[in-house]
Amino acid sequence: MSQKLWGGRFTQPTDKFVEEFTASIGFEQRLGHYDIQGSKAHAEMLGRQGIISVAEAQQIVVGLDEIHNDIEAGKLEFSVALEDIHMNVEARLIERIGSVGGKLHTGRSRNDQVAVDVRLYLRDEIDTILCYLKNLESSLIQQAENNLDVIMPGYTHLQTAQPVLYSHHMLAYREMIARDCSRLHDLRARFNQMPLGAGALAGTTFPIDREWVAEKLGFDGVTRNSLDSVSDRDFAIEFCSFSGILMMHLSRLSEELILWSSADFNFIELSDAFCTGSSIMPQKKNPDVPELVRGKTGRVYGNLISLLTLMKSLPLAYNKDMQEDKEPLFDTIDTVKGSLKVFADMIAEMKVKGNNMRVAAARGFSTATDVADYCVRKGLPFRQAHEVVGKTVRYCVQTGKDIPELSLAEFREFSDLIEADVYDYVTLEASVNARKATGGTAREAVERELNRLKPS
Ligand code: ARG
Repeated sequence: MSQKLWGGRFTQPTDKFVEEFTASIGFEQRLGHYDIQGSKAHAEMLGRQGIISVAEAQQIVVGLDEIHNDIEAGKLEFSVALEDIHMNVEARLIERIGSVGGKLHTGRSRNDQVAVDVRLYLRDEIDTILCYLKNLESSLIQQAENNLDVIMPGYTHLQTAQPVLYSHHMLAYREMIARDCSRLHDLRARFNQMPLGAGALAGTTFPIDREWVAEKLGFDGVTRNSLDSVSDRDFAIEFCSFSGILMMHLSRLSEELILWSSADFNFIELSDAFCTGSSIMPQKKNPDVPELVRGKTGRVYGNLISLLTLMKSLPLAYNKDMQEDKEPLFDTIDTVKGSLKVFADMIAEMKVKGNNMRVAAARGFSTATDVADYCVRKGLPFRQAHEVVGKTVRYCVQTGKDIPELSLAEFREFSDLIEADVYDYVTLEASVNARKATGGTAREAVERELNRLKPS
């Protein structure tokens, strides 16, 4: 009974099962470091403001440092009876330094405490994730640079459309990752406001200095409304939303890597280190890593929906429901970090089979649009040019020929605007290199892009 920090108004002990059912300590130990960081800043502020004595604040800070060391060394035994990380730390503090430890919670509540802890934790994880995103971005750029001239089929509807540079294809994913980085910076800046001082919901009667604590903890400012401070979980939702979009990107790349490493495409070879074999089929080399990342996208979407549903219709201010925010958030962080890490390494080691890509790019009349554009430059309206080349392709299908194999006489059956120079336009290189405008697949356009991306 006496172990409970809030036991005063109770005459009966908590039901054992209820104790376990309501406890969050089982999944929030990772907040220990941040809980102590927040508590130290709070204690120092209490001392500076004369709310407790400077000596008392000092004792508390020393005690918290010792508990921190114990946590790092794995020596602190967490107790379910103490419910959550906040009370586990506070109870240990009181055990260690005596009743002065009981002064730490002055002018504070677990409601604003958990809000600050999760923000500090998420901020740190975001900084790690930003590094992981940068690494993946570098791997994609490396792939582009190392295979600058490789031509592959570009697809729409997964049907051969026009030849593109493989480097251009890799840089398309770089664009997605760059937008993910920018989203992550945005949301980090938005939630980097300090909620301590909101108390349970209405603020505190003590003359605290919130701005000092904010600066001490590296926040850009303080939150502006106590009710919102303790009940806002937008930052967790925004993070899961960012993560959903990122995983969607990774799942698209996964899908391509899986297709490309099949015997039917045979465009790439993933390093053995990222694949596994089959227990029955000796020939198999399965692209497990991209498959798993594609699969993990589902749980990240699920986490976003969990959080949105959790917060839906909750009245102000704190509700115990909100304790359910942690597992989806933590799982999302772990999943995103793991996926990004493994992807950056896998992409860096990926081998490209340039010849196979090139052979595939030449199939499917991929330069048909170039013949149409050629006719347009000779004066034919595009709609008619489309018709001319459509008929040419039908003839190719019937005769089993490819566009560059047609004789000039055969070409001229469809339009007498076509002359001998048409052959300059129907090679894969000519098709690719004609698309020079910014954002196009021409070698020079891709090179300009790669130069633009070089760290200055
Ligand atoms: N473990 C709680 C949570 O994660 C901490 C805040 C508890 N506040 C309370 N009044 N029970 O939400």
